[in-house]
Amino acid sequence: MILLTGAAGFIGFHTAKKLLQNGQTVIGVDSLNDYYDVSLKKARLAQIENHKNFTFHRANIADHKAMQDIVAKHPGITAIIHLAAQAGVRYSIENPFAYAESNLTGQLSMLEIARGIKNLSHFVYASSSSVYGNSSTAPFSTKERADEPVSLYAATKRAGELLAHSYAGLYRIPSTGLRFFTVYGPWGRPDMAYFSFTKAIVEGKPIKVFNQGDLRRDFTYIDDIVNGIISCIGKPPVSDTPHRVLNLGNHRPVMLGDFISTIENALGQKAIREDAPMAPGDVYETCADITDSKAILGFEPQTTLDIGIPKFVDWYRAYYGA
Ligand SMILES: NC(=O)c1ccc[n+]([C@@H]2O[C@H](COP(=O)([O-])OP(=O)(O)OC[C@H]3O[C@@H](n4cnc5c(N)ncnc54)[C@H](O)[C@@H]3O)[C@@H](O)[C@H]2O)c1
Repeated sequence: MILLTGAAGFIGFHTAKKLLQNGQTVIGVDSLNDYYDVSLKKARLAQIENHKNFTFHRANIADHKAMQDIVAKHPGITAIIHLAAQAGVRYSIENPFAYAESNLTGQLSMLEIARGIKNLSHFVYASSSSVYGNSSTAPFSTKERADEPVSLYAATKRAGELLAHSYAGLYRIPSTGLRFFTVYGPWGRPDMAYFSFTKAIVEGKPIKVFNQGDLRRDFTYIDDIVNGIISCIGKPPVSDTPHRVLNLGNHRPVMLGDFISTIENALGQKAIREDAPMAPGDVYETCADITDSKAILGFEPQTTLDIGIPKFVDWYRAYYGA
C-alpha cells in the first residue's frame, strides 16, 4: 500500500493511475489548491477515484495532525511517494509563503509521517532540476553542489533534499529525491510553457518568446517520469545515511525556438511570436546526467519531443474541444 501525495496533480495523477494498473493499493492525498484550474485537478481525480484500490483524502500536507489521522486509517502503508508541492518559478515572486508552507513545512510534515511508519520501505519525493541554478555545468550531475538557487522555488526544493538527508541519517529512513526535468504530457500543468503556448496558438494570441528562443530545456515525457518513479520505489538506498538524489530527465535538451516549432507542427498552426527578456528566476539551460538513474533504476527515457508533443496536443484538443 502506497501513500501518494499530490494525487490530483499532473505527475501524481499519472503515477496513481499506473500504480493502480499494476495492482497496487494507493492512498491519495491532495489539497486541491487553486494555484491553477481546480476543475482540471478534479477531472484528473475523476479518472481514478472509483477504482477499488484507490482512496482519496483531501488534506494539506503541512497540517501534520490531519496527515497523522489519515495514516492512522491505513495501517498497511509500506511506502510513500511524496509529490505534493507548490511548483512554479514565477508564482514565488508574488506568493513566497505558499512555498514555505508546502515545500518546507509540508516536506517536514511528510518526513515526520515517514518516521512514524514502522518498517517503511522507501520515502520517494519530488525534487527539481531547478536546484542546479545557472552555475552547474551541463549535463547536470547529482555530484554538483547545487547550492546557488536562482529562485525561491529552487531554494525550497534544495532545502527539502537537505531535510530528507538529515532524517535519513537520524532515523534510518530510506529516501530518494527525484530531480524531475521539465515534465510534459496529457493532463499537464496549465502554468507551464508547452501548455500556455498551445492555448495561445489555438486562440490566435501571441506567445512570449524568452531570450529570443535561446533557452534550452530537457523536456521529459510524463510516461518516462512515471516509469522512473515506480522503478525507484522498489530500489531503496542502503547505507548508514540511506538518502540519495537522482535525475529523471530526457537527456536531450531542446532550444525554446525548436520546441515552439514542434508545437506549431503538431497543431498545424503558426504562433504569433513576441520577444521577451529572460524572466527572473529562470535558468538558461537544463540537461540531465542520467548515468546513475540508468544504473540504479534502469531509467531509459523513450519519448522524443516529436512523439510526446503531438500526444499532448491531441489530449488538449479533446479535453478543451479545441
Ligand atoms: N512538472 C514538472 O515539470 C516538474 C519539474 C520538477 C519538479 N516537479 C515537482 O514534481 C511534483 C509534482 O509536480 P506536478 O507538475 O505534478 O505539479 P502539480 O501542481 O500539478 O501537482 C502538485 C499537487 O500537489 C497539491 N498540493 C500542493 N500543495 C499541497 C499541500 N500543501 N498539501 C496537499 N496537496 C498539495 C496540488 O493541489 C497539486 O494537485 C512537485 O513536487 C513539483 O515541484 C515537477
